[in-house]
Amino acid sequence: MEYRAVYESWRADPESFWMAAAGDIDWVTQPTRALSDEKAPLYEWFVDGVMNTCWNAVDRHVAAGRGDQAAIIHDSPVTGAKRVVTYAELQELTARLGGALARKGVGPGDRVMIYMPMVAEAAVAMLACARIGAVHSVVFGGFASNELAVRIDDCKPKAVIAASCGVEPGRVVDYKPLLDGAIEQAEHKPGFTVILQRPQRPATLIEGRDKEWEAFQEGASPAPCAPVGGADPLYILYTSGTTGQPKGVVRPAGGHAVALNWSMKNLYGVDTGDVFWAASDVGWVVGHSYIVYGPLFRGCTSILYEGKPVGTPDAGAFWRVIAEHGVKSFFTAPTAFRAIKREDPEGELAGAYDLSGLDYLFLAGERSDSDTVNWAQERLGVPVVDHWWQTETGWAITGLPVGLDPDLEVRVGSTGLAMPGYDVRILDEGGHEAAPGTLGAVAVKLPLPPGCLPTLWNAEARFRNAYLETFPGYYETGDAGMKDAEGYLHIMARTDDVINVAGHRLSTGAMEEVLSDHPDVAECAVIGVADDLKGQVPMGFLCLNRGVERPHEEIIAECVALIRERIGPVAAFRLAVIVERLPKTRSGKILRAIMGKIADGESFRSPATIDDMAILDEIRDSLAKIGFPR
Ligand code: COA
Ligand code: AMP
Repeated sequence: MEYRAVYESWRADPESFWMAAAGDIDWVTQPTRALSDEKAPLYEWFVDGVMNTCWNAVDRHVAAGRGDQAAIIHDSPVTGAKRVVTYAELQELTARLGGALARKGVGPGDRVMIYMPMVAEAAVAMLACARIGAVHSVVFGGFASNELAVRIDDCKPKAVIAASCGVEPGRVVDYKPLLDGAIEQAEHKPGFTVILQRPQRPATLIEGRDKEWEAFQEGASPAPCAPVGGADPLYILYTSGTTGQPKGVVRPAGGHAVALNWSMKNLYGVDTGDVFWAASDVGWVVGHSYIVYGPLFRGCTSILYEGKPVGTPDAGAFWRVIAEHGVKSFFTAPTAFRAIKREDPEGELAGAYDLSGLDYLFLAGERSDSDTVNWAQERLGVPVVDHWWQTETGWAITGLPVGLDPDLEVRVGSTGLAMPGYDVRILDEGGHEAAPGTLGAVAVKLPLPPGCLPTLWNAEARFRNAYLETFPGYYETGDAGMKDAEGYLHIMARTDDVINVAGHRLSTGAMEEVLSDHPDVAECAVIGVADDLKGQVPMGFLCLNRGVERPHEEIIAECVALIRERIGPVAAFRLAVIVERLPKTRSGKILRAIMGKIADGESFRSPATIDDMAILDEIRDSLAKIGFPR
């Protein structure tokens, strides 16, 4: 069926559309209706349905006779390991770990934190929680102790499942000391931890509290799939907001299964038995939705890749994986392709592999530049589909649903068309709809479709304030963009202080909070500056306390180390300048956007007063000293 006809059928009767999609999911108790508006504007889906996520991702495929099919292929060039986990094995592994967790008193609704690298056991841990109705919260391995501690205190897990280490090119990252530090810092103390000992660097276990992965599961009875309410939380995933306190995005079980299952076939063009690869990390929403849950709901084989696009061992790594495992649809962030293009500008390494099985490349996570899209399209000879979504939504808001309609036109620079379920509008400051081609705030008319967040964990007021209050009746995405006459969306920038570094969403506010803690820093601002590889990287502007006479390089080096220690290496914070004062509006708001434009060498409208001009000149001079604009 053609995209527009399907979109219109959703618009005409959303209830029937989603009830039909729910028919592709196994329910213990069928839902009698899709949308529930009792708590509007906090909407819920499939409230009276009862199901289990792990059953739908694993057991039902075994029951259907596909137990021998590969569910997950762990391909790890950083360790040299390769492992195929079939659906039948996955059922056994999740039942065993689920049983061991249940034996220790973890039950429906209890939270379990997962802090693991890209190993099959990370997916097993997520699915085992889902199996027993526990709520998992995965934390990305590139975050430091402090970030873990903040999340532990917010979601109060009964247990933490972690690995002894992660492996980054050229270095082993010890996860266990980071976890120990986090538990020490946090006020809430999880009852126990389960540690997967990796041969690259086993960890020292604390007696009584830490259980070794295998020993923990020994003798445990396999857990059945617990019945879970359709609107009950499957997981909490923390994402960056404006402040240092991350937002706990809640994902309800029923709508998540319905929406992701729909998206695999209709958006990504894959079905049962096909191989799907999302080159991301289980610590991000892309990893949750499209390394673990989406492909498994649909009965695909999912690649779990522990490596980088370059250097593991070379810029042909992606082509090798696609060819070796027969990937049909591939999803990554543009930054990965920029990294490959930088090392292998002609894409010569692709010539050594048979990529004929690949049908589509999907990009998301950050703005796609046309150079990268065109380069990828020329090298791979497949449609390159940019699609746009957020941790909050859990699946694409706009894209090109090639499974529904393979002839949809790709427009480079656009993130495609609204998916069924999303009524996307461009609003001006007064909340009025902007004309086609006009830039405005991108908002989605409520209710959001199944799978999207109904609220934030423990923070309903923040949810209302951050997303629902600016434009009553709409969800505010935090992105600015425009729509063309045919409805193709163009995402241009964030409207808040969130930046996007190598496809990772980071809060400049959180970095400012850390920098302010440096004893010599009186005031500071962090902005995102353009970067050829990572899209954006953070840059700090530091005003020092009066009388501080230490060498500036020393202070900057300490600030760089402080961010790495408190937020983690993922922040990629390396650039900072010391300035006399920061430009501000009369009400005291720091003019971050203008500072960003100066750093990037872009034009901007001059501020009101001569004094402001003088401050901006100072900023320009300080930046020039470190080679900006580049
Ligand atoms: N555990 C511990 N540390 C981690 C980590 C993890 N899981 N993932 C990243 N890090 C560390 C890296 O080692 C690096 O540390 P360093 O400062 O000591 O070098 C730092 O965090 C930044 O990592 P990364 O953003 O991966 O940058 P990079 O310079 O190592 O690699 C790219 C650059 C472009 C190759 C890389 O960002 C990439 O592959 N991006 C793909 C996009 C992607 O996965 N996006 C996710 C959303 S779809
Ligand atoms: P995250 O919640 O980490 O997935 O980050 C979501 C944010 O990343 C969005 O709000 C956008 O700012 C940005 N983003 C994601 N996908 C795209 C895209 N295809 N084009 C432009 N920006 C994107």
